[in-house]
Amino acid sequence: MSETMKGLKRTHRCGELSAANTGEHVTVMGWVQKQRNKGGIIFVDLRDRAGILQVIFEESDCGAENFAKAEKLRSEFVIAVTGRVEKRAAAANENLATGEIEVRAEALRVLSEAETPPFPIEAESRTKEELRLKYRYLDLRRPALQKNLMLRSKITTTIRSFLTEEGFLEIETPMLTKSTPEGARDYLVPSRVHPGNFYALPQSPQIFKQLLMCSGYDRYFQIARCFRDEDLRADRQPEFTQVDMELSFVDVDDVIDATERMVQKVCREAIGIEVNLPMKRMTWQEAMERFGSDKPDTRFGMELHNVSEAVKGCGFGVFTGALESGGSVRGINVKGQAEMPRKKIDALTEFAKGYGAKGLAYLSVQPDGTYKSSFAKFMTKEELSALVSAMEGEKGDLLLFAADKNNIVYSVLGALRVELAKQLELIDNNRFDFLWVTEFPLLEWSEDENRFVAMHHPFTMPMEEDLPFIDTDPGRVRAKAYDIVLNGVELGGGSVRIFQPDVQEKMFEALGFTKESAYERFGFLINAFKYGVPPHAGLAIGLDRFVMLLVKADNIREVIAFPKVKDASCLMSEAPNVVDDVQLAELKIKLAVNEDEGTVC
Ligand code: AMO
Ligand code: AMP
Repeated sequence: MSETMKGLKRTHRCGELSAANTGEHVTVMGWVQKQRNKGGIIFVDLRDRAGILQVIFEESDCGAENFAKAEKLRSEFVIAVTGRVEKRAAAANENLATGEIEVRAEALRVLSEAETPPFPIEAESRTKEELRLKYRYLDLRRPALQKNLMLRSKITTTIRSFLTEEGFLEIETPMLTKSTPEGARDYLVPSRVHPGNFYALPQSPQIFKQLLMCSGYDRYFQIARCFRDEDLRADRQPEFTQVDMELSFVDVDDVIDATERMVQKVCREAIGIEVNLPMKRMTWQEAMERFGSDKPDTRFGMELHNVSEAVKGCGFGVFTGALESGGSVRGINVKGQAEMPRKKIDALTEFAKGYGAKGLAYLSVQPDGTYKSSFAKFMTKEELSALVSAMEGEKGDLLLFAADKNNIVYSVLGALRVELAKQLELIDNNRFDFLWVTEFPLLEWSEDENRFVAMHHPFTMPMEEDLPFIDTDPGRVRAKAYDIVLNGVELGGGSVRIFQPDVQEKMFEALGFTKESAYERFGFLINAFKYGVPPHAGLAIGLDRFVMLLVKADNIREVIAFPKVKDASCLMSEAPNVVDDVQLAELKIKLAVNEDEGTVC
């Protein structure tokens, strides 16, 4: 039977004790990591969130009864030990923060026994992630996850204190709300009181924070839960957290400045790195042309070269064909990789095809100055040397080319650049490269919907000088929108908002909304703006992504206590799940069952 804590008080966490506590009488509580019985002496590694401590039991100190209890201890039992801190008799364990000391036990209580866990609770777990996620509460005992979640807590505390000091008010906005305009699918919640009606969980607090500006709160923030039903990736979860901000009477630079200083403070206090301000900035156009991406990883070079001029009129139909249909030919120079085997180039070609490429033309400049190439036979010597010099190619270089519509060329070479940098280990993992990408296009053409869609969201302000083109050439209008990028990952994004009714109307028109449909969706915001609206702007940082990058995890799950897997389910709670017929009846919901597949559809 387990004992209680009656009359006992924990004095320290296990990992907090050090040589400075030598001689003190302490009470520690935690989980048994390991018990080793060496005959007359029993060693127990005791673990809590602060670390591991060695406890020693000898009958002469703790008495026969406690010694007998210590003999029965097994991994993951929860115990309380009272004893004295001593310098270790044996050599110090340099792997442990508490390695110089041990606690000589005088009393032991077994607070809870434990079954053998389905996998060992170890620092470097080799257990498959599915099993660990099923028993997430055990996985969360591992030091690596505990470290991540403790850091996450420190980061949110730092953010809260920074923003509060800067005059931001923390205000909560509803979870049961109406569809928000972030472009993903909504999670819907049926209403019992209004049968057939649904709330949408917020994709972001966007509309509410703009309303708060209308109401005069002038600087708002929220550590906000957001929900998006979209395909999951390593840096995407269906529910995630934003550090969401909105400011009144400001422009682009004010938002960027506040965000930069917040990020600087977090980096300094959470992980002890100093971020130099101001951060680099780059327009969207420049980012695409140089890196083929709106979230470039600037920790390495291998920038894109536009060789359209150099190949104009050459004999290679793939290149000239792309130019004739309004596209471009661009390349990357993979330095020193002229010897890359054909097999590897073929694999890169397949990779490029995954991003929409029709092929990947290559030319390697051999050490003797001759070329090996998939297309050299179609071009003259002069054309080839013009191309190589446009690529700044030297002996030993491998040049890779994509020829297509601009957006395909960018996405192919942008992805290839990152893939090659990973394969060739060109990335310095100790670097934290922050970058602002600004002046995003306001709209992008959606082939699926056959209309323009907002690149950020419909409330984003066009740049003043581009406003005249919103009716005539919407695609060329740039927005007062900005993203903050860290090491090639979009960390956050925001914009200056439209606050003039006539501009908002033009924007809705460009997006193909009728007046009625705009009112139906966003009527309360449009109406609010009729009663005096301050110019305002804001931004949201993906907190999960930020923590993930700071701890150098390669998946967002590593920094979320109870994450979902790729199919948006939780392996531990088995959500989503079926519900009682009674609940469905209350909601007046009938399920359509697909007889053929035997599944609910
Ligand atoms: P946006 O849609 O760019 O902007 O989102 C802001 C940031 O939120 C993070 N993020 C995600 N993180 C994890 N999983 C997801 N599924 C996910 N989706 C987004 C990203 C992203 O940069 N309302 C606007 C902000 C504004 O204009 O103020 C918004 O939500 O890090
Ligand atoms: P082909 O003449 O189709 O055999 O192509 C010759 C070379 O050009 C091969 O290396 C192809 O991978 C490459 N290639 C084909 N289409 C494209 C394209 N759109 N962009 C770049 N390279 C291409």
